[in-house]
Amino acid sequence: MKIAVGSDHAGFEFKKTVLSWLEENGYEFNDMGPHNEESVDYPDYARKVAEAVADGSYDQGILLCGTGIGVSISANKIRGIRAALACNPEFATLARQHNNANIICFSARFTDKATIEQSLQNWFSTEFEGGRHERRVNKIEPCC
Ligand code: RB5
Repeated sequence: MKIAVGSDHAGFEFKKTVLSWLEENGYEFNDMGPHNEESVDYPDYARKVAEAVADGSYDQGILLCGTGIGVSISANKIRGIRAALACNPEFATLARQHNNANIICFSARFTDKATIEQSLQNWFSTEFEGGRHERRVNKIEPCC
């Protein structure tokens, strides 16, 4: 499994927690930036990660910004992306089980290390349930 990771400047510091967790748990990943704390625009990095997941170069993505909202909105503009903001580990589980989300987004300003680590644990160990959820997920399509 290959994971694309990105953030903005607000998510830069917490992204290190994500990268360490991925490394410790043996995942192949690519940090798509930014690589320092200089101010950047979150849609640029959300798009990079989302396009890399949508075109199949990566299996899943992880994005961080101050609230996690900006990267979620941006990533969800890319066809085929289902980006979910995980406020707690239960959200991470349900985003996989019910929504077959392919990008998980975190808030760097309103969450903590333990929450991110447990959310990643849940995210990577949870399968999509399919069934009635598949019917619903198949209805999520851009309409204009
Ligand atoms: C940057 O200050 C902040 O607006 C951004 O990280 C994010 O929270 C946007 O949704």
